[in-house]
Amino acid sequence: MKKNLGPVNALYPTPVTLIGTEVNGRINYINIAHVGIIDFNTLSLSMVKTRYSIRGIKENMTLSINLPSEDMVIKADFVGIVSGADYDKSNIFESFYGELKSAPMIKDAPICMECKVVNIIDMPKHDVFFVQPINTYCNEEVLTNDTIDFSKVKPILFDRPQGKYWQLGKPFANCWSIGKEYKND
Ligand SMILES: Cc1cc2nc3c(=O)[nH]c(=O)nc-3n(C[C@H](O)[C@H](O)[C@H](O)COP(=O)(O)O)c2cc1C
Repeated sequence: MKKNLGPVNALYPTPVTLIGTEVNGRINYINIAHVGIIDFNTLSLSMVKTRYSIRGIKENMTLSINLPSEDMVIKADFVGIVSGADYDKSNIFESFYGELKSAPMIKDAPICMECKVVNIIDMPKHDVFFVQPINTYCNEEVLTNDTIDFSKVKPILFDRPQGKYWQLGKPFANCWSIGKEYKND
């Protein structure tokens, strides 16, 4: 028997991302897990309208998406608890820049994408930013044959219903392949 929980969003876990911005010229990072993939080069980030980071994103129309690894969980959670409106988060991570001068990235993060904002959807409580990475910087240690290897990245996965961070498990099947074993008998 299934129990109907009502209109509950059950689409978790999602990866934790740390979004880098400059607000009034000061670096700020925010923890955002409500992220989506629109197409190969377009991503979505959903932010409650009161987030301090939004001021910098709208001002510069740029941001960075940093994928933290498990060992960064304390700092990653912290920037999701305190707001740049009340606390200077510019020194929590060591930052670097690529081509976009207003999209600071995190040196310790294994994967960093510097992005341009290409569209903003105005929802009642959220601004949804559609962004496109113009460069993706990866630590060489997380690559296997020049491809991102998530077993090496060790991303942090967010489970909102339980309020937990999860680790990535093991791969167990090949995409676009295992389905060919289907037999309709
Ligand atoms: C695991 C986690 C996930 C979060 N995901 C989101 C999110 O997707 N959208 C959002 O608006 N806030 C999210 N938050 C809350 C913001 O990170 C938090 O309010 C932050 O302090 C805002 O920072 P700012 O005001 O400096 O921009 C999340 C927090 C945590 C801990």
